[in-house]
Amino acid sequence: MRIELRVNGDMYRREVEPDLTLLSFLRDVLGLTGTKWGCLTGDCGACTVLLDGEPVVACLQLACQVQDREVTTIEGLGTEEGLDEVQAAFVSNGAAQCGFCTPGMIMSVEALLGSNPSPSEAQVRESLSGNLCRCTGYNKIVDAVLQAAQDRQMANDGS
Ligand code: FES
Ligand code: FES
Repeated sequence: MRIELRVNGDMYRREVEPDLTLLSFLRDVLGLTGTKWGCLTGDCGACTVLLDGEPVVACLQLACQVQDREVTTIEGLGTEEGLDEVQAAFVSNGAAQCGFCTPGMIMSVEALLGSNPSPSEAQVRESLSGNLCRCTGYNKIVDAVLQAAQDRQMANDGS
């Protein structure tokens, strides 16, 4: 079947099998391998992307279900010049170790800060409850998110 959707601002039209997942579409059809292939059962959050601004696990979403919708992946963040505030805060806080969970974590954080620019620590932890990390113990991730929220607010206040 033929689908048409926008990914990271670009329009794509492709023929896909009805059972192709959004995760496979992004990685294997579009070559956007930043979105990670983890449990494939909706449990780890490694494949989290934004669908019309809301976080979804791409392994449980069919590509044909995203017809006419807007997908944002980790490749859609930042600019040619540099990282966005969330990516930069993950780096500066040591919030990525093996990095496998990081793209999904960051997409969940982008969704959180999009709806709640100044979250409490409890809200940060709640928003990341669907993203599993085997390396960091989460504290550095939470620190990174709180810093990113501050940095983004400062950047917005200054613009
Ligand atoms: S790979 Fe999708 S939630 Fe784990
Ligand atoms: S940094 Fe390794 S799984 Fe999170």
